[in-house]
Amino acid sequence: MNKYDDIAEYYDATMKSGYYDYAKEAQSLDSILKGRKKLLEIGVGTGLLAEKLLELDPSYEITGIDFTPAMLDRAKARLGNRAKVVEGNVLSMDLQESFDGIYSHGGPAGVCRVGNNYHLYSFLPNFEDTVKMLNNIARHLVDGGLFVLNIQSEETDADGDQDIGNGIVYCSIKLIQSVT
Ligand SMILES: C[S@@+](CC[C@H](N)C(=O)[O-])C[C@H]1O[C@@H](n2cnc3c(N)ncnc32)[C@H](O)[C@@H]1O
Repeated sequence: MNKYDDIAEYYDATMKSGYYDYAKEAQSLDSILKGRKKLLEIGVGTGLLAEKLLELDPSYEITGIDFTPAMLDRAKARLGNRAKVVEGNVLSMDLQESFDGIYSHGGPAGVCRVGNNYHLYSFLPNFEDTVKMLNNIARHLVDGGLFVLNIQSEETDADGDQDIGNGIVYCSIKLIQSVT
């Protein structure tokens, strides 16, 4: 059980109310992949991006991995037999196959833009595990394969609240870390 189990039922409404434009993200991913068809989405969540990618080109062969059962149930319902969905942790996955492209969209690894600076971030608790995850991802890529990360803008208080329906409001809180 992790925090995504708790938010799974609200996830789609939140993300589809303007947080991401999945159709647009699928288009840029498609252009970056340059014909690479066999893909692994790490942290596939409820399958929103995989679905848009398949709508663009049904010949994509997508496997999605995620460690949150409640998110995966939704991904399975959404994608049906158009994609393969497996439960697992990216840190320890051993899928016994290689992919032309691996991508993370809001998933276990990404890039955060803060002002003019770009930072690699990971959901893993420490540097050692992040390096282990990146090595594991590399192990699942074919020679010449591509690892693609989305760039996330910094969330600020100025983003304001987002009404996602049913009386639910999403608000982002800027965390200020103080160092003494
Ligand atoms: C913000 S959601 C993104 C979902 C989807 N990619 C999207 O664009 O909507 C992050 C997902 O990453 C999954 N996740 C986080 N850390 C993970 C890990 N170490 N292994 C597998 N899945 C992980 C969570 O369970 C969650 O479903």
